[in-house]
Amino acid sequence: MINMRRIWFVLIAMFTSLGVLAQSSKHDEIAQKVDSVMNRMTLEEKIGQLNQLTGDGEVTGPVTLNQDYQQQIRQGMVGSMLNVNGAEYTRKIQKIAVEESRLGIPLIFGYDVIHGYKTIFPVPLGESSSWDLEAIEKASRIAAREATAAGQHWTFAPMMDISRDARWGRVMEGAGEDPYYGSKVARARIRGFQGEDFSKANTMLACAKHYVGYGAARGGRDYNTVDMSMRRLHETFLPPFKAAIDEGVATFMSSFNELNGVPVTGSKELVQDLLKDQWGFDGFIVSDWGSIQEMIPHGVAADKYEAGDLAMNAGIDMDMEGHVYIEELKNLLNDGRISEAQINEAVRRILTKKFELGLFEDPYKYCDPEREEQELLSEENRAFARKSAQKSMVLLKNEGVLPLSKDLGNIALVGPLVQADEEYIGTWSARGEGRHVVNVMEGFRNKLGDQASLTYAKGASFTGQSKEGFDEALQKARQADAVVAVVGESAMMSGEALSRMNIGLPGLQQELVLELAKLDKPLVVVLMNGRPLAIPEVDEKAPAILEAWLPGTEGGNAVADIIFGDYNPSGKLTASFPYDVGQVPVQYEHKNTGRPKVEGQRYTSQYIDGPNKPLYPFGYGLSYTSFEYSRPVLNKQQINFDETLRVQVDVKNTGERAGEEVVQMYVRDLVGSVTRPVKELKGFEKIALEPGQTKTVTFKLRADDLAFYTRDMEYKAEPGEFKVFTGSSSEDVQSASFKLRR
Ligand code: NOJ
Repeated sequence: MINMRRIWFVLIAMFTSLGVLAQSSKHDEIAQKVDSVMNRMTLEEKIGQLNQLTGDGEVTGPVTLNQDYQQQIRQGMVGSMLNVNGAEYTRKIQKIAVEESRLGIPLIFGYDVIHGYKTIFPVPLGESSSWDLEAIEKASRIAAREATAAGQHWTFAPMMDISRDARWGRVMEGAGEDPYYGSKVARARIRGFQGEDFSKANTMLACAKHYVGYGAARGGRDYNTVDMSMRRLHETFLPPFKAAIDEGVATFMSSFNELNGVPVTGSKELVQDLLKDQWGFDGFIVSDWGSIQEMIPHGVAADKYEAGDLAMNAGIDMDMEGHVYIEELKNLLNDGRISEAQINEAVRRILTKKFELGLFEDPYKYCDPEREEQELLSEENRAFARKSAQKSMVLLKNEGVLPLSKDLGNIALVGPLVQADEEYIGTWSARGEGRHVVNVMEGFRNKLGDQASLTYAKGASFTGQSKEGFDEALQKARQADAVVAVVGESAMMSGEALSRMNIGLPGLQQELVLELAKLDKPLVVVLMNGRPLAIPEVDEKAPAILEAWLPGTEGGNAVADIIFGDYNPSGKLTASFPYDVGQVPVQYEHKNTGRPKVEGQRYTSQYIDGPNKPLYPFGYGLSYTSFEYSRPVLNKQQINFDETLRVQVDVKNTGERAGEEVVQMYVRDLVGSVTRPVKELKGFEKIALEPGQTKTVTFKLRADDLAFYTRDMEYKAEPGEFKVFTGSSSEDVQSASFKLRR
């Protein structure tokens, strides 16, 4: 009998090798084309390709020079522009490069398409709370479709900096505190932006940023010093960047910060040696805005000349808005501080991406006003923004108040965020506009029509100490059947250069909520913010709290969907919410110490004025239904290094509604050559369960999953005893034990 399996294998192998051949021949073809362009380039034109300038759209950093960038494009002195927007405008600027510069090399347009272009999705920290990688990928796909229709080729996203410091304004822009989960999200976002083929007009280059350690700024103050052990760097901060390479990310951005005394933008060890040589990254690396010349104030370069020397020798290919390469590379070359081969290598990397994007064939294919018109803010995109916002929201507390009945006669909506459209889209809102936002008031109206009367009072502001609005708010609340307080941070309270030292509800919003809580009415607190907040008093007094983040264009509809029970909340936190800023950094993945806390025992590791644990831990989030977990069941008590352990857990929906649950698995290595965390996330699955339904979730663990940087900095697993935990959050778990043996 013909062995069908064998034939299949042969066919698959043939097709795979044909695919590989096709890819490598495409690769060779592009390499040849790059060479032929480079052969015609002068040194000045080559250096021009390494220069990126900001246009006259909104400016996303301190402008260092008042330049006439169009003239510089004409002279072949610019390889890429950022902050130039719209199909027509990018076409106009591209035309200058293509028709008026000597060689007509097209520009790459880059832009911060962080969580949407025109249709804005929840801020990334919120979006990550969905634990729904498909949805996260799809949101990036939509963002890419919109941005590419409007002329963009390259997004400066995703930000994959792990951060455990809620004071840092940019926690908003990442996927939270965990490297395992952060790596998965980074990959999903990259897949979404890049698709399968750069030459398609609706895919764009992604950028792994900010390489590296940026999220560990001392004191949570943006741009501040970073100092950490190499073990910590490798175990916590580097994994998402490595994952980005595995996903085929096209570009990297070096971070502003110094790391252990050396600004990363000037670190040959981290950029050239690790990223390019060891990991084999073959795309190009752009500095962050001005980060080459910021090596002067950092104090490792006396002037631009020295800064350029450090950056080029570190392996930075493109200078974003720093004007250092354009001014100094030629001098550095003449003095023998850098070689022509280094310049050629950087140019080659950049031109390769221009060819892969198809810009040499059709430099205008991304500037399509008709597609822009159809794509931006389409019904389909908005509908998905609503879904994405629903999935991102986390129910933090519910003492039987939610969902509210649609039959309530009178609902008071209170707080500065009820109808503050501009705030819903956050600071990285690209071309998003407040006027397109559905706010909570509108979301309620859309949901309830004339069925209920809705009253509104702002009550308090984001800043200041005025209680002027309290009376009106309390009066309206008294007359209502239920009160919904929409409070939190304004958009300008999270994001770049927006760190806070106090992470409570700003202004007098907490006082307002506590006054509302005294009225003894059904009270729902809807939080909108870009970071974990410290809100123990609100948690104590308010019967229901929904974390809605800065929810984007469809935020108000999504809030209404959840409040009135049309969507059962399914989000879980990806960053712990501390009781108090004094606990920061606080994360589930911590070490045990030699004196782990024992309640009531003085000489153990604890605070005398508050708990060690966060208020709401990583992985936490409630549902309108309830889930019951079995203990984890293992198929073996011991595994060898080449075996797989199966961990099974049954999860039952014991409530009355259908719901989704994020089932989580954590591991602890009990004894290692170096201390190991009390828990590390190693798997998760989001499942949907009908009332009464049970599903078995199966996780797999292999020795590779248990590897870490050992005492001698080797990445490997060590034999010994492990605990595995399964459950509904990093704290609500049940455990089993197993051994790994040689
Ligand atoms: C500085 C930010 O750190 C970076 O994330 C961003 O992409 C650039 N500015 C460009 O706007």
